[in-house]
Amino acid sequence: MNVRKIVIKKSNNLEGNVKIAGAKNAALAILASTILVGQKCILENVPDISDVSLMCSIMSHLGVKINMVGPNAIEVDAKNISSLCADFDEIRHMRASYYLLGAFLGRFGKASVAMPGGCDFGLRPMDQHIKGFESLNAKCEISGGIINVKCDKLKGNRVYLDVVSVGATINTVIAAVRAEGTTVIENAAKEPHVVDLANFLNSCGADIHGAGTDVIQVHGVKNLKGTSYQIIPDQIEAGTYMAISVATHGNLTINNVIPKHLESISAKLCEIGAQIDYFEDSIKISCPGKLKKCNVKTMPYPGFPTDMQPQIVALLTKCEGTSMVTEGVWDNRFRYVSELRRMGAEISVDGRLAVIEGVKKLVGTNVKAIDLRAGAAVILAGLISEGTTYVENIDYVERGYEDIVGKLSNLGADIKIVTESLDKISLSAC
Ligand code: EPU
Repeated sequence: MNVRKIVIKKSNNLEGNVKIAGAKNAALAILASTILVGQKCILENVPDISDVSLMCSIMSHLGVKINMVGPNAIEVDAKNISSLCADFDEIRHMRASYYLLGAFLGRFGKASVAMPGGCDFGLRPMDQHIKGFESLNAKCEISGGIINVKCDKLKGNRVYLDVVSVGATINTVIAAVRAEGTTVIENAAKEPHVVDLANFLNSCGADIHGAGTDVIQVHGVKNLKGTSYQIIPDQIEAGTYMAISVATHGNLTINNVIPKHLESISAKLCEIGAQIDYFEDSIKISCPGKLKKCNVKTMPYPGFPTDMQPQIVALLTKCEGTSMVTEGVWDNRFRYVSELRRMGAEISVDGRLAVIEGVKKLVGTNVKAIDLRAGAAVILAGLISEGTTYVENIDYVERGYEDIVGKLSNLGADIKIVTESLDKISLSAC
């Protein structure tokens, strides 16, 4: 058996252009919602990442026809569905498979979907998804690891979500699109991918207002039609390259971005010392001077995104002084800190708070990608560490970053993927 690793050597002053791919979390929601539409849709700017391949494979198992029709473009035809029961291994490996519940419920009035997997940040409950479905008159029960939902007739209603949840907001919107009457979702999530999902569904004939605010109104429609739709750029991929530009004292032009979506990230990077120029769909970011400490608290959009928390912590390990990072979304999203400590970082964690003492140097060693964004954090740390860093579990990184090694190499980084035989590794470990 072979194991793949990313090997990184210290790489100062990264320079050049990098193009950001389509947004992972928008693409996954929009893909699932094509099942609600039930007509041919063309999706463009689809990121070439393994989470998208996995979602396409799951949907193919359920009878959806999916074809590549160009670079980063796919045609999805969900006219004929062969099963409303999604209970197989792939489902358990992906969080976004929960959107199949909303899509099946909205179109067929029932669904059975295995409890979803995803990165381990502590408890990841589904109670608000269920609250959303039940407010539309559906009955939900969980048995044997399967979530079953059904309803004779979905009826619009008011629903107040107790926590700001991207997944519960999107699932309730999807289920409400074809319900009778009007649904009002209060305390809705405002993330760019919630807006993108609503824009996609509106281009199919849905009647959704207020996406991007905390009150979303969905006026039920009887029919939807196919469409051609371009997915927005990935806010977190862009933010990751911004943090890398600052960490390496680089000078990057980051193309295919929506600068508005990057405001909270830009603000914190400027406190650290970044200089940023904004253009219509690109930014230039450099950091010629010293890196300064800063405090960050992650929050739902428009706050600083939790999905940028590991990357900013990795950057702060090289900033002068003591920085504090508070995780405001997930219970347990600092598990990766042990990997940064192995590289010489001085970080203490108390519950949802990490205190980071800037150090003079990090030193490369063997580390693991604990999850997707944690993987990006150790890659960033590897780029600013003395010696060589070996990153294991790179499948996690490939779930959400399109060709990260190729993109960083193009910017001048000393980074590559190597494949080693496990036999060789276990022999050398003896
Ligand atoms: N929550 C509940 N009940 C629910 C749902 C959520 O209490 O029914 C809580 C969660 O425990 C958490 C908070 O609400 O504390 C926010 O969770 P949310 O539902 O917003 O998260 P999600 O929809 O499961 C999406 C992204 C994550 C991202 C979060 C927060 C997808 C597929 N995943 O997850 O992305 O961290 O929103 O922005 O869209 C990533 O891309 O690396 C990633 C993990």
